[in-house]
Amino acid sequence: MAREEQSHMVLDQIARQIMECHRCPLYKEATHAVPGEGSMVARVMFIGEAPGEQEDTLGRPFVGRAGKVLDSLLTGSGLGRNDVFIGNIIKHRPPGNRDPKPDEIIACTPWLEQQVNAIRPPLLVPLGRHAARYVLGRMGVEFLKITDISGTVFEGEPFGFPQKVIPVLHPAATLHNPLSRGHLEEDFRHLGELIRTMGP
Ligand code: URA
Repeated sequence: MAREEQSHMVLDQIARQIMECHRCPLYKEATHAVPGEGSMVARVMFIGEAPGEQEDTLGRPFVGRAGKVLDSLLTGSGLGRNDVFIGNIIKHRPPGNRDPKPDEIIACTPWLEQQVNAIRPPLLVPLGRHAARYVLGRMGVEFLKITDISGTVFEGEPFGFPQKVIPVLHPAATLHNPLSRGHLEEDFRHLGELIRTMGP
């Protein structure tokens, strides 16, 4: 079976399990789980924090205001949604979009782990401090502020095989702080260049 077909089957199965997940109480107030979506053979996987209101309504990642920003950043990097996979560390919406709690992150991230292992992207891009803390934590890297490390290329094996990790600011940051837009645009331009030089 071709790798794409196999990865498709595995990801479908993971998504079905996520839709029935009761590992933490977040499912109780959520409308839909948001497993994530995109290419089954993506070379880059974006990892956000958690679904917001629009995502909860539609069951799809980054379809609200932050999603519009992400779409335009992707365009600026020369990538489209179909080239990448977009997921989150948390699959059900935290009420009122509050920060995810540590025990929710512990309960939910085995799903992400399975998704990363099915797709095996050479590049991971955590969006914002929560996703960055989770992924870099798996590499033993700690940081205080996401602005101290955004755009830095880390190399390691956070999921048991070699990957590059480039944490960036969360796209929603641009909605409150227009200065962060420039930083994100530059980081996404570099990202596009890096992917093009990484080869097939
Ligand atoms: N913000 C996130 O972190 N994830 C989404 O899916 C939407 C907004």
